Amino acid sequence: MEKLVHISNLQKIYPNGTHALKGVSLDIYKGEFLSIIGLSGSGKSTLLRCINRLHEPTSGTIEFSGKDVTHISGSELRQYRKSIGMIFQHFNLIKRMSVMDNVLSGHLGSIGTFASLVGKFPGSVKEKALNNLDIVGIREKADLRADALSGGQQQRVAIARTLMQNPELLLADEPVASLDPATSHSVMKYLEIMNKQHGCTVVCNLHFLSLVRQYSTRVIALRAGEIVYEGKPQDITEEWFKSIYGEDAVEVEIE
Ligand SMILES: Nc1ncnc2c1ncn2[C@@H]1O[C@H](COP(=O)(O)OP(=O)(O)OP(=O)(O)O)[C@@H](O)[C@H]1O
Ligand SMILES: [Mg+2]
Repeated sequence: MEKLVHISNLQKIYPNGTHALKGVSLDIYKGEFLSIIGLSGSGKSTLLRCINRLHEPTSGTIEFSGKDVTHISGSELRQYRKSIGMIFQHFNLIKRMSVMDNVLSGHLGSIGTFASLVGKFPGSVKEKALNNLDIVGIREKADLRADALSGGQQQRVAIARTLMQNPELLLADEPVASLDPATSHSVMKYLEIMNKQHGCTVVCNLHFLSLVRQYSTRVIALRAGEIVYEGKPQDITEEWFKSIYGEDAVEVEIE
């Protein structure tokens, strides 16, 4: 399998001294759907944010398509970020803007530039935005304000927004943590479509093992900033579950 991301001995120590990643080495392969699990505070978000350089790694290296991106800056960093889509637990839409404008903002990869360009997109870009809303099944909501939509619909807008970038890599940080079980599946399904139909490699932080088993091709578990499990989702045994989540943990299912 071809490597998309190669992470070597990544350490992240926050300015307050918290040692969030303690030498993480990980390869992410093109086309895979990799889930990251682990207790709250184990370093899942920190890892995603180091990959797209929202956080500065303290040491170690990150390579993307064979290129060292650990310390790139300026236009090189902006270009790099354009190839990476990001989905957050709380959607990160601009609430007072329309669904359509939120999706269009993905075309630029930067909201700042966007504000000055509202209404100035060529027809082809608008068509692509509508098409992306179609893909996530909410084209008819295009003209509504983003905050008029339900949580699941807002997350689908966020997915349509990242589709504007044609990202090579999608980083999803607990994309369904604020949603009910049925809605969770309706969002996961679109991440699956991005993965399978649009060839986008997905890395997804998840809390529910049943979702991990259903949607991912591989899973890693973090505990206190270190990788403690790497394997196929269906191979997570009771023993591994307890070593990841602690002796007293009990698996909760999402239907
Ligand atoms: N900006 C920050 N400054 C200082 N410490 C931080 C910062 N962000 C995270 N941390 C700390 O780093 C560690 C890892 O946090 P992180 O958010 O990566 O965990 P997580 O696995 O995503 O947890 P959760 O499941 O709750 O989202 C925690 O101890 C956390 O308190
Ligand atoms: Mg987190």
